[in-house]
Amino acid sequence: MANLRKAEEAGAGAVILKSLFEEEIRQDAGDIDNTYHPEAYEYMTADAAMVYGSGEYLEYVRKAADSVSIPVVASINCEGTKWWTDFASNIEEAGADAIELNIAFIPFDSGITGQQAEEKYFEVVKSVKSSVDIPVSVKIGPNFSSIPNMVTRLKEAGADGVTMFNKYFHMKINTRTMELEPVHTFSDPSDAYRVLRWIAIVSKQCGIEISASTGVYDEDMLIQYLLAGANTVQVTSALYKNGFSVVSDLNSGLQSWMKHRNLEKIEDVIGLATKKKVKQVQTFERLQYIKIADGAIFQ
Ligand SMILES: Cc1cc2nc3c(=O)[nH]c(=O)nc-3n(C[C@H](O)[C@H](O)[C@H](O)COP(=O)(O)O)c2cc1C
Repeated sequence: MANLRKAEEAGAGAVILKSLFEEEIRQDAGDIDNTYHPEAYEYMTADAAMVYGSGEYLEYVRKAADSVSIPVVASINCEGTKWWTDFASNIEEAGADAIELNIAFIPFDSGITGQQAEEKYFEVVKSVKSSVDIPVSVKIGPNFSSIPNMVTRLKEAGADGVTMFNKYFHMKINTRTMELEPVHTFSDPSDAYRVLRWIAIVSKQCGIEISASTGVYDEDMLIQYLLAGANTVQVTSALYKNGFSVVSDLNSGLQSWMKHRNLEKIEDVIGLATKKKVKQVQTFERLQYIKIADGAIFQ
């Protein structure tokens, strides 16, 4: 809880708790079959101290809600609907102000179509939304054929917001033992740009709250995300690497940038660079490709 308080003291607007994995609820219910989701495995081994059972997670949510006065968002990493109806309402009762669903359905079977995979997401959202009154956001990855369409349909399924994007852990193969091993990587600042593009495209047409996640190390990236239309911005790698002072630096950097431009409210900043400019983002992208291709071929 000390870290949550440090985040609040540093000026964080909310805290998102580490994810509870579906596998942990199944384990508590005696339904574990040794087929851990690879991402669950990575997260658990990434931070062994955070291996919760579902009961412990509820206790964690309770303590977190008592420890800080900023909103506490519980996070659930899931791939199906079966476990959530009861558990999501338990999380709400424990005092969470919102839930972030980290839906990580991986189609291991070549018979699963893109549409079937997407349906899983909508099922989970509908199931959780039917059992809680608090806002539910969905943290998605960048690997959909049409991200704007996916976000629109998540909204139609009841999602109150989306977090863009999840950063999946990667695996490697140890060439000596031939065993799978996790690759633990923090984001690079440049990872933010592929996220920025999609936020700019999605924010003006999907009418849903967007939380930006990836590559925020300084106020410049924070401001870019807001200008692209993100309503909130999350920070993880920078906290691990540089500590909680990052939060106060981000806030003071944003405040002085706004003051310099006579912008009073955060609402004046959100979407300022992309208002009615989805077409411009499209044209800009194509022009850059042409410029880069020209440079590569003719210089
Ligand atoms: C050490 C570490 C632990 C993480 N744990 C979680 C988690 O429990 N649940 C989750 O949804 N994302 C988790 N993430 C992903 C982050 O929330 C975030 O989406 C991603 O790291 C990109 O943001 P960043 O560039 O600010 O790190 C974790 C990331 C790191 C580096």
